Amino acid sequence: MCGIVGYAGPKNVGDVLIRGLERLEYRGYDSAGVAIRSDDEIYVQKKKGRISDLFQGDLPTESLGIGHTRWATHGKPADKNAHPFLDCQENISIVHNGIIDNFNSIRDELTEKGHEFSSETDSEIIAHLIEENYDGDFLKSFKKTIRELEGSYAVVAIHKGSDELVVARNQSPLVIGIGSGENLVASDAPALLDYTKNIKYLQDGDIARITNQEVEIWDEDNTLVERETKRLNWDVEDAEKGGYEHFMLKEIFEQPKAIHDSLLGRLNNFEDVDFSKYDVDSVQFIACGTSAHAGYVGRYIFEKIAKVPCTVEVSSEYRYTSSSESSPFTIFFSQSGETLDTVAAAREANRRGCDTLAVTNVLDSSITREVDEVIYTQAGPEIGVAATKTFTTQVIILYLLAIELGLARGVLSKDEAENYKDELRTLPRKVERILDDKERIKKKTKRLAEAEDIFFVGRNINYPVALEGALKLKEIAYIHAAGYPAGELKHGPFALLTEETPVIALAVRDQTFEKMLGNIGEIAARDSPVFVVGDENKELKKLADERYFIPKVPPLFSPILMNVVLQLTAYYTAYRLDRDIDKPRNLAKSVTVE
Ligand code: M6R
Repeated sequence: MCGIVGYAGPKNVGDVLIRGLERLEYRGYDSAGVAIRSDDEIYVQKKKGRISDLFQGDLPTESLGIGHTRWATHGKPADKNAHPFLDCQENISIVHNGIIDNFNSIRDELTEKGHEFSSETDSEIIAHLIEENYDGDFLKSFKKTIRELEGSYAVVAIHKGSDELVVARNQSPLVIGIGSGENLVASDAPALLDYTKNIKYLQDGDIARITNQEVEIWDEDNTLVERETKRLNWDVEDAEKGGYEHFMLKEIFEQPKAIHDSLLGRLNNFEDVDFSKYDVDSVQFIACGTSAHAGYVGRYIFEKIAKVPCTVEVSSEYRYTSSSESSPFTIFFSQSGETLDTVAAAREANRRGCDTLAVTNVLDSSITREVDEVIYTQAGPEIGVAATKTFTTQVIILYLLAIELGLARGVLSKDEAENYKDELRTLPRKVERILDDKERIKKKTKRLAEAEDIFFVGRNINYPVALEGALKLKEIAYIHAAGYPAGELKHGPFALLTEETPVIALAVRDQTFEKMLGNIGEIAARDSPVFVVGDENKELKKLADERYFIPKVPPLFSPILMNVVLQLTAYYTAYRLDRDIDKPRNLAKSVTVE
């Protein structure tokens, strides 16, 4: 939800900012802009649209600057609402990610004092408030300003008479890249990978001053603090397309490695969470979007392996439910670790006395500070807005956690645990076999690309996979799709079935298989084209108009394979329709507004 970047150093600042913005564009792409301090002036270029369309002509090459790529919240996508913003005197420029809750009252006060605003955004007030507070000391006026803001913010500001970037973070991500003779700041570490792998993660309430030579950080009590510098284990290539046409396709193909890396070191010696410390007699999963679908899959995995009752909540709903007497062990999923609804839900779960665990892909992300335990998926950076490899690795972590919990609860024998682990070890190779079949899956998407509505149906552990398949198709192909438990279609949605309405049916040989065959028969009898994904079976061959059979796997582990087929299905359907696959309209990678 908006990406920001700042640079202080000897390199061509225009180039560094544009490079950083390109890497952050997945966070929002309604407009982009840069502000560069050059010859004691602030030069601003900004515009509605994508970064590739924006920056024409040379930008100043020195000496420091800030950049922004926007996902609109206050004020529609328009040139005038693009960041960076200037104060009245054009001495100060800022970029902001987040939402300033008290911007209306600040704007009214500043207007009375004679400030003139050029945008509809909440962010612009920050530049004017710094101007109002300025008494010759830029850092001091910035600190005073930040203390007057309510809401969420990552802010970077520059002054035309100063060689420093001043930055603040509260509930919106911001990291500092430590270089040699240069320092950088950005919303996300991948934006800095071209320049450094040494990262300082700011905490809520932190304010920092950054020059090309030094970084000073003050905490929320204005005490000078040292924040540890951590070394990223991601490479520049991880954040590049590496010959694939889209990040999404690259990330789908990275899944065998992502599964392998997420299992690495954990199968033989799991040290991430010690369940013997907790008294776990029920579990709840909380997340948004694709991560919530991982939670739904988790329910089936935990109930089967750890024999513990589970519930699943969407983060934005959980916060407003009435708090119950019980305090289930609560597991949050968030690829980014920055989804505001999920971070806020974690706070609420703590308030309700739950023991909490976060499964995230981003080191030191906001959610890690709200929970008792953290476990990282080892998926590498995910740039495509559609989540793919991070879903897969979240589910992999779920198997590992369920095995550990099952052992800790004494409901799983060591032999059973080893059998489950053996199945996990086979998954990368099985996923590879599906990826090798991509052309066959691509061919099957012709009819889907012509449809206006598509249903996805599944039962048991593949019901959430149906939800995820439908979400992926909506998100990147812009085709209306709905996921249902297969037995539910006849309770209403059947009225929509025609020969123009494909139904993608997920059928594996679990205890629901016979029922699923019946459901597919009912759908076929309405003349809807049926696309089956599942275990090879003669009956299915007869019933289906199109079919894709996955490599042999126990039903409990089938979601990983089934979902890869659905990812490729969504990808190639969107591809046929020439959609903007990595940056679907109206979306952003991490949603840091409620
Ligand atoms: O970073 P998170 O996992 O918390 O993000 C949650 C959702 O916003 C995310 O999964 C979203 O649904 C994806 N774009 C779906 O592909």
